[in-house]
Amino acid sequence: MKLLAIVGTNADFSFNRLLCQFIAKRFGDKAEIEVAEIGDLPAFYKEGQADARVTAWREKVDQADGLIIATPEYDHAIPAALKSALEWLGSHAGSKVMAYKPVCVVGVSLGGQGASRAQEDAREILLAPDMTANVLPGNELLIGRAYSSFDKESGDLVDEASIAQLDKVMEAFFAFVDQAKK
Ligand SMILES: Cc1cc2nc3c(=O)[nH]c(=O)nc-3n(C[C@H](O)[C@H](O)[C@H](O)COP(=O)(O)O)c2cc1C
Repeated sequence: MKLLAIVGTNADFSFNRLLCQFIAKRFGDKAEIEVAEIGDLPAFYKEGQADARVTAWREKVDQADGLIIATPEYDHAIPAALKSALEWLGSHAGSKVMAYKPVCVVGVSLGGQGASRAQEDAREILLAPDMTANVLPGNELLIGRAYSSFDKESGDLVDEASIAQLDKVMEAFFAFVDQAKK
């Protein structure tokens, strides 16, 4: 099973990137998980033609059996960079790669709510007619208090409750992707 763990931001430093890297490390024996960046994609615009970066991005998504999207929360929504990266994948941009693609939404924030509103925003976008992704229901992973949840040296997720929840969510997602492949 091939999965992409998408860092939902163009930030140089990101706890959500640390989460993607941790997921790739922890579940590397269960799936081939590549951490994917969106920071070098051009901003979406409606009349825009896909350049080499956008084409490569679409191909990467197309070839994955499932996507894990780790989103920060910016003003109670997903960051603009993530919205733009998703727009390039939508049917209005001439792409069908998101249609029924299994997607798991996760997120990390500095406060206590674990990017909950951004995650809801992401799910709503993913279910839009332009996307029609196959979003894993339930199975929320809300990692708050990022500074104490991640180890300062290794960057690993160390909060035990979050790790236990992550294990449950990933187990559900592996089964979900398997089922979608049948
Ligand atoms: C423009 C901006 C808006 C933000 N808005 C929120 C917010 O609405 N809710 C929240 O919990 N954190 C908010 N934050 C703080 C983020 O949770 C914090 O920057 C977090 O580290 C972002 O994730 P990252 O480390 O993966 O980049 C905001 C940060 C920025 C830069």
